[in-house]
Amino acid sequence: MSSSATVKTALITGASAGIGKSFATLYAKNGFDLVIVARRKDALQTLADALKKEHGVMVHVIPLDLANPSAPEELTNTLDAKGIDIHTLINNAGYALSHSTLNTELVDVKAFMQVLMSTPVELCHRLAPSMIAAGEGHIINISSIAAFMPPIKGDIYCAAKSFLLNFSLGLAAELKPAGVHCTALCPGFTFSEFHDVMGTRKAVSKLPRFMWMDADEVALQGYQAVSQGKDIHIPGRVNQGASQLVSMLPPQIRQFFAGRQSILEY
Ligand SMILES: NC(=O)c1ccc[n+]([C@@H]2O[C@H](COP(=O)([O-])OP(=O)(O)OC[C@H]3O[C@@H](n4cnc5c(N)ncnc54)[C@H](OP(=O)(O)O)[C@@H]3O)[C@@H](O)[C@H]2O)c1
Repeated sequence: MSSSATVKTALITGASAGIGKSFATLYAKNGFDLVIVARRKDALQTLADALKKEHGVMVHVIPLDLANPSAPEELTNTLDAKGIDIHTLINNAGYALSHSTLNTELVDVKAFMQVLMSTPVELCHRLAPSMIAAGEGHIINISSIAAFMPPIKGDIYCAAKSFLLNFSLGLAAELKPAGVHCTALCPGFTFSEFHDVMGTRKAVSKLPRFMWMDADEVALQGYQAVSQGKDIHIPGRVNQGASQLVSMLPPQIRQFFAGRQSILEY
């Protein structure tokens, strides 16, 4: 049960920075109680204190490393113990590897796959049944326009985002008759800590401003998309145009581009 019968609760992974932090702020502003998850406890606590003070909502801070295969179960056990029902699940936590898959330690490749694919799937699996039973609920899975792009030599990020996009679309079709909305949100370049973590800040800072969006705007468009029951949303006209154009390329031409352009280290 949520804190009051009328207050809905949103669970946001990766809320300590970037797009997740913007989602947390937006949902708090809209009167949702929050469950915020990431590894950095201090950053989550600072955000929670600010949102509680500003919007009078309840914010539960759950520090977790979502690369740990037991993390989704641990998270949902904590929710059950606290009696929290989740109305909105936002699978947002993510990052990109800086080296090619073969030049990344296997333990780090497995952690990446856990955070970007297994954890979101398990959280959907664990939390969707109560949404179905309630006849309402929202899920936003943060994919990327990378899901539409041609393969990059040695890259796993585009593959992971492609997986999440297609998983999300299938899930949306399964959930729709039950009144639950599931949206795959596919942002392009967004101001956040993403490229600092990946180590590509210098390279991407050369890209023109029109290719970038603010995290707050991306979150707002995600919120609107899931509220309108959209299965997929690509924020921004530039990102929409680029994704549509690239999606039309035949497989041989897409593969031609593999290895020709990359910001990965090998
Ligand atoms: N920025 C872009 O250009 C862009 C474009 C398209 C899609 N996206 C996607 O948008 C999502 C959000 O990224 P962002 O741009 O906001 O990046 P960000 O500013 O680096 O934020 C990433 C968030 O994920 C959390 N996270 C990373 N690894 C985690 C782990 N093992 N366990 C728990 N939490 C973890 C981080 O928290 P801690 O470090 O505290 O754990 C942080 O809160 C990602 O899925 C990303 O792939 C980003």
